Amino acid sequence: VGARGYSGLELCRILLKHPAIQLGPCFATSADWKLSDFLPEASNVPVLPMSELNNACEKVDVVFLATPAEVSMKLAPALIQAGKKVVDLSGAYRLEADAFNKWYGHAHESADLLPSASYGLVPWAKPMPSGAGLVANPGCYATAILMGLIPVLRAGAIDASTLVIDAKSGASGAGRKAAENLLFTEVDGECLPYRVGRHQHLPEVQRYLAQWGGVEVDPIFVTSLLPVRRGIVAGMYARLSPAWAKLDDAAAEAKLSQAFNEAYGDYPLVQHAAGEKPAMLSLKRVAGSARTQISYVVKGGKLHLFSLIDNLVKGAAGQAVENVNRWLDLPAHAGLLDREGLL
Ligand SMILES: NC(=O)c1ccc[n+]([C@@H]2O[C@H](COP(=O)([O-])OP(=O)(O)OC[C@H]3O[C@@H](n4cnc5c(N)ncnc54)[C@H](OP(=O)(O)O)[C@@H]3O)[C@@H](O)[C@H]2O)c1
Repeated sequence: VGARGYSGLELCRILLKHPAIQLGPCFATSADWKLSDFLPEASNVPVLPMSELNNACEKVDVVFLATPAEVSMKLAPALIQAGKKVVDLSGAYRLEADAFNKWYGHAHESADLLPSASYGLVPWAKPMPSGAGLVANPGCYATAILMGLIPVLRAGAIDASTLVIDAKSGASGAGRKAAENLLFTEVDGECLPYRVGRHQHLPEVQRYLAQWGGVEVDPIFVTSLLPVRRGIVAGMYARLSPAWAKLDDAAAEAKLSQAFNEAYGDYPLVQHAAGEKPAMLSLKRVAGSARTQISYVVKGGKLHLFSLIDNLVKGAAGQAVENVNRWLDLPAHAGLLDREGLL
């Protein structure tokens, strides 16, 4: 649902080539929109009006909601009730009800589903039980930040009270909708902060750093709009913890390397390296790929950590597919490894 949107379209592109998933009907609000205009290989995939959602879903196992949070929270309950596996790409099911009301600015309409929703940060998420259920696919900034910081916090490497997060996203992060601040003439040549200190991914980052990193954090958090189509660069900076500050910089980097190996050794969609300019670190090459690229530099007892993802792939559609893969007991990266970014 939401196939015409940036995340929905990317999802269709991935699913059409997936070795074990067949793309069923797609849904758009406009009757004359054709998926095959964007993806010629989708000529046999019907695009249906929303009024046919419940009937058409009888024949499918999994429903992806690539819709705004206020739409997802209306659609998910009936789908769960009908026994579907639902992966919601919006922020509707990532927070507890009170936090949702505060950060999304309106009340939740299906808060009763929140306790059962599984936050799907792969590979950290717990396995899904078979049968119906709801995955809250993580936010794009939150994904880049959590993938970088969880291993660092688990290793006890930083003094979390000094943490500063400076994350920048390409313009597709805001979706396809028309808005003056997203016009080419406004975005091109700029890199300006927005929603400073009030971005809705902050509570998501805090909640899951506490859960998987074991540390309560209250970072300085700034998001900016990059003048590119896709990709997120999250820079995360902190002083080392007292125990790690006793190490020289090279020894601290070696221990970080070990922490990332332990975290992601069995997971092929993370590349990590120490050093200022690791060859793999490239927004242009991560664009289109399902990978997370992480690099870390320790200088003078301070950590400089960078995590790069494609906001539409690892940050949305690719991770949604990873969630279904693990639900169906497929390798987490099935259908995703051949998607490398291009220059
Ligand atoms: N863009 C990203 O990088 C990113 C990353 C992670 C998560 N997300 C989340 O993923 C979701 C989709 O984001 P997006 O960027 O792909 O947005 P988008 O490009 O604006 O697309 C949103 C889609 O939602 C559909 N929609 C809106 N209202 C609807 C309704 N009442 N009933 C049915 N469909 C409706 C629209 O369908 P029509 O076009 O047919 O009207 C549209 O295709 C959002 O919740 C967003 O927060 C986005």
